[in-house]
Amino acid sequence: MQEELKSIAEKARLEINQAESAEALKAVQVRYLGKKGRITAVLRSMGSLPAAERPVVGKLANQIRDDLTAEIAKREDQLRDFARSRQMAAERLDVTMPGIPQPLGHLHPLTLVMDEIAEIFLGMGFNIAEGPEVETDYYNFEALNIPKDHPARDMQDSFYFGSEILLRTHTSPVQVHTMEKTAPNVPVRIIAPGKVYRRDDDATHSPMFHQVEGLAIDRNISLSDLKGTLLLFVRQMFGAHQQVRLRPSFFPFTEPSAEVDMSCVICAGKGCRVCKETGWLEILGAGMVHPRVLEMSGYDPEEYTGYAFGMGVERIAMLKYGIDDLRLFFKNDLRMLRQFY
Ligand code: DAH
Repeated sequence: MQEELKSIAEKARLEINQAESAEALKAVQVRYLGKKGRITAVLRSMGSLPAAERPVVGKLANQIRDDLTAEIAKREDQLRDFARSRQMAAERLDVTMPGIPQPLGHLHPLTLVMDEIAEIFLGMGFNIAEGPEVETDYYNFEALNIPKDHPARDMQDSFYFGSEILLRTHTSPVQVHTMEKTAPNVPVRIIAPGKVYRRDDDATHSPMFHQVEGLAIDRNISLSDLKGTLLLFVRQMFGAHQQVRLRPSFFPFTEPSAEVDMSCVICAGKGCRVCKETGWLEILGAGMVHPRVLEMSGYDPEEYTGYAFGMGVERIAMLKYGIDDLRLFFKNDLRMLRQFY
């Protein structure tokens, strides 16, 4: 019986080591060690042995059962390791490798400047307004007191779709949209950032560029409110030492009208090449909203006054970052764009 046990064990070992899957291994275990397994059967039949042999055979059978159990466990580990390395090879994934860095994008310098401008005016109680980039002649010109034959139209060579529809040449039509929506309620305080289009193309002009329009309407609004607001803006944007000055000018939709300058950012007002020795840089146009403009859009000019301004975002960004060619904003050269964020 001992010989039989040993040869059964030998065979079991062989089968354990040849099992190629967890299922096959389980089957070997059942075949030898299960309730009806061959080793179990030997242990059961021990009753027929002479009493003197029982302990010896019993001990051997138990020993073999323990050995086989241990070997099955070992093979199980081995099969699991094989499976894992097969899977790793299939996925070609080495979890110990460093990751592949994903480059993060960032905002365009003009977006940054527009956001900063908006932030400053939001802080002074202005809201953001929007209007369409494709405008009618009425909103772009007529309602801003620029009639068909007005020479001011020549200053804004336009892209037309037919005779009455065009790409807006400035953000000023948003003034009209806003007044039509709000009249006769006050106060009105909005800025309108956005794209505008003109038939211009050189180092300081692009056929598409950006403006931020401003409009405030209330009772008793005066030119000093305009100047104070712009002074605060310029100081937050360019530094607390900045000054502004208003020079008389002409726009059909404001009366009086002004060209607004700030201290030169290069020489701080002493005079240099950038400011042509004047100490001042022009940054925007502004004025008191023309009574006819107020009236056309529903505000009684006897009761309400307002101011308006319009600035070029590219110009502000060029002054802020010291960029000397406006076309650089639109070339999409990352070596340039990456410098500002
Ligand atoms: N719309 C003018 C332009 O594009 C800029 C401007 C001037 C806007 C005076 C204003 C203003 O609101 O009051 O050239």
